[in-house]
Amino acid sequence: MSGGYPVRTAEDIAVGAPDFDHDHATPLARAAEHVVLARQGARLRPAMPRPPATRVFVVANQKGGVGKTTSTVNVAAALAQLGQRVLVIDLDPQGNASTALGVEHRRGVPSTYDALVDGVPLAEVVSVSPEVDGLCVVPATIDLAGAEIELVSVVARESRLRKAILGHPQVGSAEELGDDRFDYVLIDCPPSLGLLTLNALVAGNEMMIPIQAEYYALEGLGQLLETVEMVRAHLNPALDVSTILVTMYDARTRLAAGVAEEVREHFGDQVLNTTIPRSVRVSEAPSYGQTVMTYDPGSPGALSYLEAAREIATKGARP
Ligand SMILES: Nc1ncnc2c1ncn2[C@@H]1O[C@H](COP(=O)(O)OP(=O)(O)OP(=O)(O)O)[C@@H](O)[C@H]1O
Ligand SMILES: [Mg+2]
Repeated sequence: MSGGYPVRTAEDIAVGAPDFDHDHATPLARAAEHVVLARQGARLRPAMPRPPATRVFVVANQKGGVGKTTSTVNVAAALAQLGQRVLVIDLDPQGNASTALGVEHRRGVPSTYDALVDGVPLAEVVSVSPEVDGLCVVPATIDLAGAEIELVSVVARESRLRKAILGHPQVGSAEELGDDRFDYVLIDCPPSLGLLTLNALVAGNEMMIPIQAEYYALEGLGQLLETVEMVRAHLNPALDVSTILVTMYDARTRLAAGVAEEVREHFGDQVLNTTIPRSVRVSEAPSYGQTVMTYDPGSPGALSYLEAAREIATKGARP
């Protein structure tokens, strides 16, 4: 092609135009294409209606490595691309969500720990994510690893996060706050059922459980659901397991299809129609301090997370 580098626009993607040959693109050209796509994608993705009040989602599964953090950051970025105002609270001392959303989380940065343990107002520990307009993050520093034990002796130890979130001046209804409100708060939990996750379950109205499409997918879920029942009975009757998301789905295997089927039999219409494919682009994005939504907005992983976010936003439009 003379003098030109074929940039695939978000419009092409929308109409299903074939991908060009990436091998002929220089890294710089590829990076430029991604920036253009990310910007256009954000503009061309028609905004969804905002929910009438802030929806607080707990993203939890005590099993490790099932896609909690990946789903939190990508659904958050996708919701922001759909015109929603989103706050991610990183509740995992590993700080992976903070990394993926491109915010600083070394020791000393105002963080979840300060809000949870020292009672610093949540609004004072929020960072703006450079990823997408409308996306903010409360980062997690390594200090949070100690919180699990430090909280044991603190008053109202299981409702600290709830108090912090409800005390944020941009959390509430459209009636009270007008446009200046968060539409979604997404809490990324660590892989355990300790006091940190308990704080999230007490703080949330809804729960999103990512389930990896693999053989032992449903194992351990019983314990998680028992904990949810306990929380509902004693601490937070409003908690609703509204969303199950099947992740790392490999369409080539019968096993993945079988697992997805089993999850649907078990949870019915709580399961999103969209499944997230296993894709290298999704797993690469965090090493660039990005979500796949900006790292490779036209990739199947990004388009699936966008579709999942649309489903979530549509469900929330119900009265
Ligand atoms: N759709 C996907 N395709 C390919 N790799 C993925 C996908 N989703 C997640 N991964 C990879 O799987 C690993 C685990 O994902 P992730 O960190 O999101 O899980 P997690 O449940 O948050 O883990 P933890 O329990 O440690 O917090 C990561 O290396 C991530 O990059
Ligand atoms: Mg995680």
